[in-house]
Amino acid sequence: MPVLVPVPVPVLEIKNLQKTYRNDLQALKGIDLTVQSGDFYALLGKNGAGKSTTIGIITSLIKKTAGMVLINGFNLEKNPIEAKMHVGVVPQEFNFNAFEKVKDILINQALYYGIPLHQAKKRADVLLAQMNLLDKKEVSARQLSGGMKRRMMIARALMHEPKILILDEPTAGVDIEIRQAMWKFLKKINLEGVTIILTTHYLEEAENLCNKIAIIDQGKILIDTEMALILRELEFETVILEIENIKTGDRQILEKEIRKEQPLQVFIDELKDQGFVIYRVRNKSNRLEQLFMHLTEKNSGEKS
Ligand SMILES: Nc1ncnc2c1ncn2[C@@H]1O[C@H](COP(=O)(O)OP(=O)(O)O)[C@@H](O)[C@H]1O
Ligand SMILES: [Mg+2]
Repeated sequence: MPVLVPVPVPVLEIKNLQKTYRNDLQALKGIDLTVQSGDFYALLGKNGAGKSTTIGIITSLIKKTAGMVLINGFNLEKNPIEAKMHVGVVPQEFNFNAFEKVKDILINQALYYGIPLHQAKKRADVLLAQMNLLDKKEVSARQLSGGMKRRMMIARALMHEPKILILDEPTAGVDIEIRQAMWKFLKKINLEGVTIILTTHYLEEAENLCNKIAIIDQGKILIDTEMALILRELEFETVILEIENIKTGDRQILEKEIRKEQPLQVFIDELKDQGFVIYRVRNKSNRLEQLFMHLTEKNSGEKS
């Protein structure tokens, strides 16, 4: 008898997502993305790449032009209520009533999702404590610092216990101490089962937190892969050598990929034995940053 293995439903599935804004600007040119339960996805891209537009559509703030969004298997268009239940979002811009009290912002969010008041109050306290904001509970939101506002929005996004948390540049302009506390918290809830998508400009942040990485540029996905795969590639360093054949006097440039922990000496000895003199050696830097720059620059070269 064949064994039926249930195929897990992706927490988020985006197919051929397109967005043309009213001014005819084509912000998304067909985005595909599949996020599995437990993933911690980095969505990277330069300013204007289309990250916030993508997130805006997933969270129903922006109307798509074409394509499909499935959240936990529910079509956002056909079953908006079921689909939205599973998403929490921390938008790039502050979007709360700054004159409301912190606790009310959280509790009202929960009530909106149909959570009973007594439960909402408890959950607000738990999340505010985790965000180190419990002492600001009765304060009106405008009195919070930038980092506190950001943390309050994270707490708000988690009030209805969503399966997937989407954060749009949560650490932009946040000081290093708070950023690290945020990283720790996000890692923790990810381990507890919350799937996370994060957009960021800080590549070391993505490297630190995420198991998946997608790079978006000019409304298209350039790369979508496992972080470990990319990092393994980066374990190699490309060394560029300028060498001269002693006999003929010919000079040439040589590129050699070497494992980072491997000594260069072995390779240099080989070249010497083959009758070459080494004139110059330099590194072709190969960090994630370089890869990113390389990909996005290459893409902007070919005008679309
Ligand atoms: N409301 C809007 N109207 C017209 N164009 C917009 C609007 N919002 C964003 N855009 C444009 O869409 C593109 C993608 O923007 P966005 O999704 O905000 O990128 P990112 O978040 O990656 O910086 C940019 O060219 C931006 O100027
Ligand atoms: Mg943005």
